[in-house]
Amino acid sequence: MGFRKDFLWGGAVAANQVEGAYDVDGKGLSVADMATYKPNVDVKDYKKNVHITYDDILKVKEDKSTKFYPKRRGIDQYHRYKEDIALFKELGFKAYRFSIAWTRIFPNGEEDTPNQAGIDFYKNFIKELVDSGIEPIVTLSHYEMPLELALKYNGWADKKLINLFVKFSRVCFESFPEVKYWLTFNEIDSVTRHPFTSAGIIEDRTKNIEEVEYQALHNQFVASAMVTKLAHELIPGVQVGCMLTKLTTYPATSKPEDVLAALNKNLMNYYCADVQAKGEYPKLILAYFKRMGYRIDMTKEELDVIKENTVDFISFSYYMSLLAAEDEDGLEMTAGNTIIGGKNPYLKVTDWGWTVDPVGLRISLIELYDRYQKPLMIVENGMGAKDEVTKDGSIHDEYRIEYFRSHISEMKKAVEDGVELIGYTSWAPIDLVSAGTSQMSKRYGFIYVDEDDEGNGTLARLKKDSFTWYQHVIETNGEEL
Ligand code: BG6
Repeated sequence: MGFRKDFLWGGAVAANQVEGAYDVDGKGLSVADMATYKPNVDVKDYKKNVHITYDDILKVKEDKSTKFYPKRRGIDQYHRYKEDIALFKELGFKAYRFSIAWTRIFPNGEEDTPNQAGIDFYKNFIKELVDSGIEPIVTLSHYEMPLELALKYNGWADKKLINLFVKFSRVCFESFPEVKYWLTFNEIDSVTRHPFTSAGIIEDRTKNIEEVEYQALHNQFVASAMVTKLAHELIPGVQVGCMLTKLTTYPATSKPEDVLAALNKNLMNYYCADVQAKGEYPKLILAYFKRMGYRIDMTKEELDVIKENTVDFISFSYYMSLLAAEDEDGLEMTAGNTIIGGKNPYLKVTDWGWTVDPVGLRISLIELYDRYQKPLMIVENGMGAKDEVTKDGSIHDEYRIEYFRSHISEMKKAVEDGVELIGYTSWAPIDLVSAGTSQMSKRYGFIYVDEDDEGNGTLARLKKDSFTWYQHVIETNGEEL
């Protein structure tokens, strides 16, 4: 009744949060290289934290420092990947999810030929994983795209990006055919939360930001379907998944108006996965576009490609649940980076305001499986926390163990409910730069990295208590938590 024998236990990261080496071996600048370290994030003003203007970008682009742009230095996995992979092997990982930086392959996005040094890096990286018995799971786009495409075309607002992305993906499929699991766009729905990070859209270059976001999403759906088709043609036995931020929302009360508010939030959250898994726009979202007067340019050919090339499995991130109410002014709000919603009084929150809701993970798994009837993979789940290193170099992170224990236990119940779950990659197995705040002090790993928010530290890797704990979980295939 437990997890399947070939269950993919592992961890997940993104290139821009771990690699560093932002200007090494021909890599071009990406949108992530523009992200600044935000020491005091105001959760109520979360939109401001991800907002960047065209003029800001031009200034930041010229600044070559890494101190205030931690994603440029990451945890230097670019140079230390062998050491990291050896630790993942010791953990017993069956799978490792990472992303390929588009800017290492096509530095500006539009070159005629790819950058061989970038291809070689990932070839060696993947070989190291495979030789260590770890299955690579690759995200093609994870909050990182050539900055030039943002400046020149306003990113995914322009349909030109579709073929450029297909070209990049073709190089990846042809160069790394040993990769059998691919995800197209990380948290594709996040375009409406942080359009620059997820789609290279610069807000002050748009007339109606929300309309542009939906256009960009449409363009990504088309690109995703085209590369799904391509992967199926080029790699025998390949599995391609979509990737959704699962934002499970409960009504704040049983008042029907609150239930309606929660229903609408959940439907909005599902719509991107609906398009990619069912091959069609939900009629309710088309009605919403109409009501809002949004004119999304979608051709019959594009809709056909979407229809004919649905994903093989659904992957998602799950961190927290939220509350919705008819009148949100009356709700106490809580925020996790760019996600904001009502705070559930029954749940604890982390230092960064994310509610901890393991049962919400079981609910999410059941809902997703019932809705799509396709295999599921949890590709992100974890807890950002401050860690303390004791004098003897140990890190006692019982809180993290407790977080994972409770979530994996609910995940197991969902499997017993009948959900077809094929893998679980924690976010993140090793400390990395936070996507939302660019902090190092928001730590997720089983492996500690000696680096602070301003980049001081030796970058040494240390095992936390959770390391041994997760190792045992994998060893017993989730039977002993
Ligand atoms: C997900 C992203 O939204 O959340 C990751 O896919 C990110 O890239 C993770 O790191 C946790 O968020 P944060 O802001 O704490 O890094």
